[in-house]
Amino acid sequence: MKEVKIETTLQVFNDVSELPDHIQKLMALATEARDNAYTPYSKFKVGAAILLDNNEIVTGSNQENASYPSGLCAERTAIFYAGAKYPDAKMLVLALTASSQNQVTDTPIPPCGACRQSIAEYEFKQEHPIEIYFMGATGKVVKSNSLANLLPLGFDRSFL
Ligand code: THU
Repeated sequence: MKEVKIETTLQVFNDVSELPDHIQKLMALATEARDNAYTPYSKFKVGAAILLDNNEIVTGSNQENASYPSGLCAERTAIFYAGAKYPDAKMLVLALTASSQNQVTDTPIPPCGACRQSIAEYEFKQEHPIEIYFMGATGKVVKSNSLANLLPLGFDRSFL
């Protein structure tokens, strides 16, 4: 038996003003998209903005449903739309922001496990890392250089 240690490195910015200009703009678009979230049940709004290598930006927000599992997270709304509209473009950066009517979201809120798995699919497909920036509504912003950093021991097409 041997023990294996898995480490992840993330970067933490104190607030959006510390981000590079083009990422601030991307986060602003994610914030706009967040306002369009349809969340009558959770009152928890998430916005996503994806920068593609063709310079297009695709946004998305979570869309809920009275049959709860039929709703979809913001990240998957955005990446599936990007994949559907620009199938040959690489996704370079994903910016995420989340707000809640129930509490102040001032700590970084990471993508859920299902979204990590979905994002990972596109990282494998395009053979290029996707940078991910995530935050609450205010406060610190966390950057991951790749989705793989957020999903160690991921399941991918190589196993099939
Ligand atoms: N949600 C997202 O949009 N992204 C995540 O990564 C986590 C959760 C949404 C789904 C649901 O509409 C609400 O947040 C509460 O779970």
